[in-house]
Amino acid sequence: MAKTQKPPRRYREDLSETPDWLKRKKCPQRDQYLSGKRILPANLTGKEKLTDLVDETFLAYNAARLKEACQLFVRKMLEPDVTVGMSLAGALTPAGLGCSSIVPLIKAGFVDWIVATGANLYHDLHFALNYPVRVGSFKMDDTELRNNDIVRIYDVLLGYSDCLMATDEILRSILIQPEFQKEMGTAELHYLLGRYAAEWERQAGLKDVSVLAAAYRAGVPCYTSSPGDSTIGMNVAGVELRGSKLRINPSIDVNETTAFVLAAKRAGGKSAAVLWGGGSPKNFMLQTEPQIQEVLRIKEYGHDYFLQVTDARPDTGGLSGATPSEAVSWGKVDPESLPDAVVCYTDTTIAMPILTHYALATHKPRKLRRLYDQRAAMIKALTKEYFLHNPVKMIDGPDRMF
Ligand SMILES: NC(=O)c1ccc[n+]([C@@H]2O[C@H](COP(=O)([O-])OP(=O)(O)OC[C@H]3O[C@@H](n4cnc5c(N)ncnc54)[C@H](O)[C@@H]3O)[C@@H](O)[C@H]2O)c1
Repeated sequence: MAKTQKPPRRYREDLSETPDWLKRKKCPQRDQYLSGKRILPANLTGKEKLTDLVDETFLAYNAARLKEACQLFVRKMLEPDVTVGMSLAGALTPAGLGCSSIVPLIKAGFVDWIVATGANLYHDLHFALNYPVRVGSFKMDDTELRNNDIVRIYDVLLGYSDCLMATDEILRSILIQPEFQKEMGTAELHYLLGRYAAEWERQAGLKDVSVLAAAYRAGVPCYTSSPGDSTIGMNVAGVELRGSKLRINPSIDVNETTAFVLAAKRAGGKSAAVLWGGGSPKNFMLQTEPQIQEVLRIKEYGHDYFLQVTDARPDTGGLSGATPSEAVSWGKVDPESLPDAVVCYTDTTIAMPILTHYALATHKPRKLRRLYDQRAAMIKALTKEYFLHNPVKMIDGPDRMF
């Protein structure tokens, strides 16, 4: 057979065992259904690049979903007109994902705003302070660990006095500084903490180990959906007993994040949600659309791209496992965008470094959007549109704000 000639498609010729009903069928869509890539990957050699491994051997099940996630991220979400939000749940920074993946994603301009559990941002501070977090084992005796001044996050170990308590002590000394003595949202809180984290990194001779420091430098606003529910929140509450005037106002966060999504849409661009795990950060990120549509009554259609890595099932009704199609019913995801939605059931600690590597290897850095610096202007635009769409007045004030 000549090299250029394609081998003939082989259909079964002996139809004697084919049931009668099938013999008579024309099967017009058969070729279309079977038009997918043939599953026949080459033998691995050990010389493959990670990107080729993903593209060529992640062919089915959650490997295929991870490949689709990588491709969706690089081919669509990283287009210049897309504003990318990233939610972080699960103990990611203690596992080193801040240094390995989140910081590089921030530096490359691949994430424009973040919603994290407070714990992820709190544990990030140990890295900035150069307090070691170490590999341990999930099989260790926790009473023994307690007796040895050690705390455990599954197979990750931290010193109780010299890492945890030491971080808290420094955190409290910062939280009573004059710049913190006012009401603020969590983006400002984390920006101010990020400035310290950047300085600690510098003093320790470390580079790019802290998410808060990287976000501070890149103007990426970092929110937390439950400000009281982490050791940062616990210390904020602790210093309040000493008369601290720091008050976290979650409504500032709701309005700022909503303003980012509306601004992306009004600029003719798109909004992407990259969701690592579930929990309240996932909802906080997605609820920006119902906030626009249901509460502020502004005409809008939902996030354009949805990518989630999770271990949570959809059938328990919990938000952590809720699918993108369920999110459509709430207006969180644009129904037109459902083909651009991927859910990968795996552990973030596996998927995040792979996706980060894939993106860095195949996409050039994006210009930093620096949303932190644009919060006031975007809130102003959101407020203006709110008043345009609603017959409301300022409470105890003029008819319209603008
Ligand atoms: N995790 C900690 O070390 C820690 C410490 C102190 C406080 N907290 C607080 O507890 C609350 C809960 O946070 P959390 O971080 O434990 O999240 P969580 O357990 O609430 O996670 C939410 C969901 O994300 C998914 N998920 C979690 N880890 C995942 C992973 N590795 N891969 C894929 N999916 C994953 C799970 O489906 C889970 O239901 C937060 O408010 C946090 O600030 C957590």
